[in-house]
Amino acid sequence: MKHYSIAIDGPAGAGKSTVARAVAKELTFIYVDTGAMYRAMGLYLSEYFSDTSNVEQIAKKVLNAEISITYENGEQQVLLFGKNVNDQIRTEKAGNLASLFSTIPAVRTKLVQLQQQLAKKESVVMDGRDIGTKVLPNADLKIYLTATTKERAKRRFTELCDKGVSITLDEIEQDIIKRDQLDMNRTESPLCQAADAIYLDCSKLDACEVTKQIIEWFQERKELVAD
Ligand code: DC
Repeated sequence: MKHYSIAIDGPAGAGKSTVARAVAKELTFIYVDTGAMYRAMGLYLSEYFSDTSNVEQIAKKVLNAEISITYENGEQQVLLFGKNVNDQIRTEKAGNLASLFSTIPAVRTKLVQLQQQLAKKESVVMDGRDIGTKVLPNADLKIYLTATTKERAKRRFTELCDKGVSITLDEIEQDIIKRDQLDMNRTESPLCQAADAIYLDCSKLDACEVTKQIIEWFQERKELVAD
């Protein structure tokens, strides 16, 4: 049986995970949040390293890292050495650590392998930074989802305020700018639009409109593949 794959890449705060989760639910595919894996790895490595200067030592630690994925009620759970770290990885700090340590080639090699294994077993909607360019170069549909920096900051601010996190809009915007800078300019698999990805600016669209659009595009592609 053919396994389908939809790749959604884009910068922090564009709404990738909300949309990817909704698309996966609608199509009964598995949603793979690759950022969560980088967050778990960042959390683990930050126990031993405060920066990325010692690439060789970091690479050795990466070899020992045990990161795995399970699903509970359709929700992805990330296990670090068998312990569920889903709550711990959802902080701004964990996002920044993920961005920092994701520049290390050994980190990427290990997590890309895990992501590719998941996509071999199931139909997936996978979101991240390098899904269309590196992880699933033959994905059935590739989307590059983005929004203005201001809009992304506003969305993340609302999300964090709802969770009771005390942070200013300006702090979030600065974080997003720094994260874009790091994710787009690293040597290894930087964030960029795959040549065959559809560019979608969702600054003026809500998550439902984006989800609907992606599903429509996917159905069109599926028909073409079936022909
Ligand atoms: O999507 P997110 O905010 O959870 O991702 C956290 C960081 O992890 C992101 O800033 C860069 C890194 N990342 C990556 O390098 N490649 C991916 N496929 C996903 C995330």
